[in-house]
Amino acid sequence: MESPPMPLQAGAADVRSIKIVVVGAGSVGVTTAYALLLDGLAADIVLIDIDTNRAQGEVMDLSHAAHFAQARVRVGDYEDCANAAAVVITAGVNQKPGQTRLDLVKTNYALFEDVVPRIAHHAPDTILIVATNPVDVLTHAAHRLSGFPLERVIGSGTAMDTTRFRHELGKHYGVNPRNVHAVIVGEHGDSQLPVWSLATIAGMRLKDYCQAAGVEYDESKLEACAKRTKEAAYQIIQRKGKTNYGVASVLVSILQPIVTNSDAIVTVSRVGTYGGVEDVALSMPCKLNRRGAHQDVPLLLAQSEQEALRRSALSIKEVLSALED
Ligand code: 2OP
Repeated sequence: MESPPMPLQAGAADVRSIKIVVVGAGSVGVTTAYALLLDGLAADIVLIDIDTNRAQGEVMDLSHAAHFAQARVRVGDYEDCANAAAVVITAGVNQKPGQTRLDLVKTNYALFEDVVPRIAHHAPDTILIVATNPVDVLTHAAHRLSGFPLERVIGSGTAMDTTRFRHELGKHYGVNPRNVHAVIVGEHGDSQLPVWSLATIAGMRLKDYCQAAGVEYDESKLEACAKRTKEAAYQIIQRKGKTNYGVASVLVSILQPIVTNSDAIVTVSRVGTYGGVEDVALSMPCKLNRRGAHQDVPLLLAQSEQEALRRSALSIKEVLSALED
């Protein structure tokens, strides 16, 4: 029996005609392809990697999983980006234990100089989703190298950290993370910031929630949640050498509102002006739909948060300037 068709928003494409390309058959790329397959978000999933043998092996394995889904997975080349709803770039060198994301910049920037113009040539109307680290710097690079409008170049950014933060707060308060509304904005990295002033549970600010629920409001414990959020990738990398499941799921959560045109608000990285710092990419909540990421939901940050956001923007800008030297 056929499964019922997925409800589509006005302007959404029928998933049966959706192609999504994943560039990079490393663990993030293939886990993303696998998550896409299970999610049923695309009918045609294309994997591109410089190591075609490896990509072929991954696709052989994935195509056996595709048996249980309704999509095909195949190895492709850059011309296969034509008419893709989105191209997800995961290719690049990984963060090593103890290394910051910003340490990676030079190698991965050189790779983007090769890859992004090729994608843009074959798919001038697609949406680029950048997952390679340092993601904010590379989102900026992808914008420059593609010549695409701002809204069509999206970095996975702090969508990952926001997910981890909600997980931490949910665990701390014993509530489902889906009922925690709290975001991490700024750099996907060390200068990120939790927006405490707007964090809510069940529609109540944290202090009010604690009072209503009769639980302790302890700022030091909340700061520990934010610290664990910031350090999560380091902790995982120290133990298993990489992160893949979290980020792949986050990539699918970014692709979902794009494909279904559903205007979901997600904290993603986009080039813009933040805290008065121009032409830099970092994460703020954006509305996602089939035209890309739109910043029509500006946060009313507290003064201290505005200052922290500016510091985050400046620290990313510093790397961009170093790259241009
Ligand atoms: C992550 O946060 C390493 O950026 C990657 O999982």
